[in-house]
Amino acid sequence: MIELDHVHLTLAGREILRDVSLVIDKGEVATIMGLSGCGKTSTLRLMMGLAQPTQGRVVIAGQDISAMRERDLNSVRRQMGMVFQYAALFDSLSVWENVAFGLLRQRKKKFTRDQIDATVHEKLEAVGLEGVEKLFPAELSGGMQKRVGMARALALSPQIVLYDEPTSGLDPVRATTIDDLIVQLRDRFGVTSVVVSHDVQSAMRISNKIAMLYNGTVIASGTPEEIQSDANPVVKQFIGGLSDGPITD
Ligand SMILES: Nc1ncnc2c1ncn2[C@@H]1O[C@H](COP(=O)(O)OP(=O)(O)OP(=O)(O)O)[C@@H](O)[C@H]1O
Ligand SMILES: [Mg+2]
Repeated sequence: MIELDHVHLTLAGREILRDVSLVIDKGEVATIMGLSGCGKTSTLRLMMGLAQPTQGRVVIAGQDISAMRERDLNSVRRQMGMVFQYAALFDSLSVWENVAFGLLRQRKKKFTRDQIDATVHEKLEAVGLEGVEKLFPAELSGGMQKRVGMARALALSPQIVLYDEPTSGLDPVRATTIDDLIVQLRDRFGVTSVVVSHDVQSAMRISNKIAMLYNGTVIASGTPEEIQSDANPVVKQFIGGLSDGPITD
């Protein structure tokens, strides 16, 4: 479903990603882990076509998007939802308008007001929010904003969802709700998910596959069990959250 094939990314003259290869099959939850600044968000941006690789290919559902025109890219993006690291809601729009945004913009398939209402309600409920439709982003807590961002990403029931740290800043109860939702979308609807996360426990629990990035490259990838028994000292230190090891700064 998603393939990064020997991808390099240079931004402002700096090499951000180096020879990154990843294969994520349909209906898998794949988690990308790694230190702050190692290139996780950049990897998701490549998958969305928001950045283009300087070398290598990005293939989404069989289509190479690495050099695609904006118009074709938009049709690929229609099957994808992205939950941004910092909610990225439209401040001047209400929660209802934020979540309904993609539904209102559909040209081919027009939805009735009732259908949109029902979808907005259903997606908000799925992320554990109710009765907030009329509020504006500034009236919500950070964790609530994040979950509204998630409801917006899920509004069109995308086949692929990219989550940038979906549970950071959430309390443990809400974080588990989100983890369960990601798993449910996979098990019920075969949704393919890529999750950027720092939460080792949750990643081990929900992922079919984990990739660890370090300094812009993949240093380990495999099942949660394989990652847990990886011999690389960087991986061991990260997974164990240890202060002693090769990671110093
Ligand atoms: N548009 C840009 N132009 C130049 N450099 C960028 C740009 N976007 C990101 N970078 C750099 O790329 C590197 C990776 O950034 P990225 O946001 O992918 O990291 P990350 O792994 O998501 O970090 P975090 O865990 O802190 O969110 C950083 O060194 C950052 O400064
Ligand atoms: Mg990031």
